Amino acid sequence: MNILLLGGGGREHALAWKMQQSPRCDDLYIAPGNAGTASCGTNVDLNPLDFVAVGEFALAKAIHILVVGPEAPLVEGIYDHFKNDPRLADIIVVGPSAEGAQLEGSKAYAKAFMQEFGIPTAAYREFTAATLAEGLAYIDQQTPPIVLKADGLAAGKGVLILEDRETAKQEFSAMLDGKFGAASSKVVIEAFLSGIEFSVFVLTNGKDYQILPIAKDYKRIGEGDQGLNTGGMGAVSPVPFVDDALMQKVEERIVKPTITGLQVRGITYEGFIFLGLIKVGDDPYVIEYNCRMGDPETEVVMPRLQNDLLDLFEAMANDSLGDMAVNIDARAATTVMLVSGGYPEAYEKGKSMSGLENANDSLLFHAGTRSGEGTVLTNGGRVLAITSYGADFHQALAISNKNASLINFDGKYYRRDIGFDL
Ligand code: AMP
Ligand code: GLY
Repeated sequence: MNILLLGGGGREHALAWKMQQSPRCDDLYIAPGNAGTASCGTNVDLNPLDFVAVGEFALAKAIHILVVGPEAPLVEGIYDHFKNDPRLADIIVVGPSAEGAQLEGSKAYAKAFMQEFGIPTAAYREFTAATLAEGLAYIDQQTPPIVLKADGLAAGKGVLILEDRETAKQEFSAMLDGKFGAASSKVVIEAFLSGIEFSVFVLTNGKDYQILPIAKDYKRIGEGDQGLNTGGMGAVSPVPFVDDALMQKVEERIVKPTITGLQVRGITYEGFIFLGLIKVGDDPYVIEYNCRMGDPETEVVMPRLQNDLLDLFEAMANDSLGDMAVNIDARAATTVMLVSGGYPEAYEKGKSMSGLENANDSLLFHAGTRSGEGTVLTNGGRVLAITSYGADFHQALAISNKNASLINFDGKYYRRDIGFDL
């Protein structure tokens, strides 16, 4: 089978690494890919948002499966573009329809969906410029911290948590006034939930589903979970506090009603659902849905998944997903992300990397890298995910941290405390 994978981060390197291990994987193309994905297949200079070009490429290369890594092409409707073109309709697309992607693309849509199907989540209301006064009054009724969410995609920056009502009101007004552009023309205000977060990944065709390994990521730039939010600084799988009793609640209260909701609403959904969850007391609540895999969670989930990923994708498409069993490596996997100095604010690219060859007891998933002349150069904020196995997460982290110190580039930064709260 020929595969086209869209995206170019650590998530995509991990997906490419996994798919290329399948005996059924013939040609694997990654668009645009990075210096790491080039060792799993062929990088292609295609813009994932140029659906016409992606479709023509898929025809020219006789692609069987299109795997969509990031959310933007899904929210913009790449699934529908393929299914509405008779020449492309037989290609399996891993990723939901535009309507399904609204679970990530619109916070208000996701909250209304959860409310309709009784899925536990924070109480909320949504507001626009036309209901500004009601929103300000609603903030007056809340107990801080106050959670404000831009409705639309805002590159992970659209959630603000404010410690007092006055600041919350100023930010709320600023959001409705275009602080995040069109993404914040609608704002969700929701109750603050206090607990510990974890990520659950589900592969579904909207009828059947399989739950993949559970993970926890570390989003803040600073040790001890301090400072600005990032795309993710590291991840651990499995998550020690997520026991069978909690997972049973997740499945009964969240996964099953989510699938039921897709059916009741007639939403076409073939792909991953990423549940961003929080454990409050002994109970799971949904913080957010995403319509794709997480990054850097994929860099620990794929290494622990023992199934042939292409078999799972095919089963998803031909309605036999329910007959499959997911097999998971008993070892722990951890990943530590090397990032560019200054990230998540301004940083420099094009730094030459050294020491990659010293880290042969880890899997190195490239995020922001590109090939230079005989070397690998940094090419983004998040640069390299260093994934290791161990009997438990402590052992795995010891290897990831050792290799994080051995690989170098000018300005390198990483968190030495991934897993500190477990
Ligand atoms: P989101 O983009 O919705 O995942 O929000 C980003 C981050 O903000 C989450 O990972 C949480 O750490 C935090 N967050 C979002 N909503 C809430 C909430 N209702 N209560 C507490 N923390 C939240
Ligand atoms: N690691 C969080 C995300 O991918 O959104």
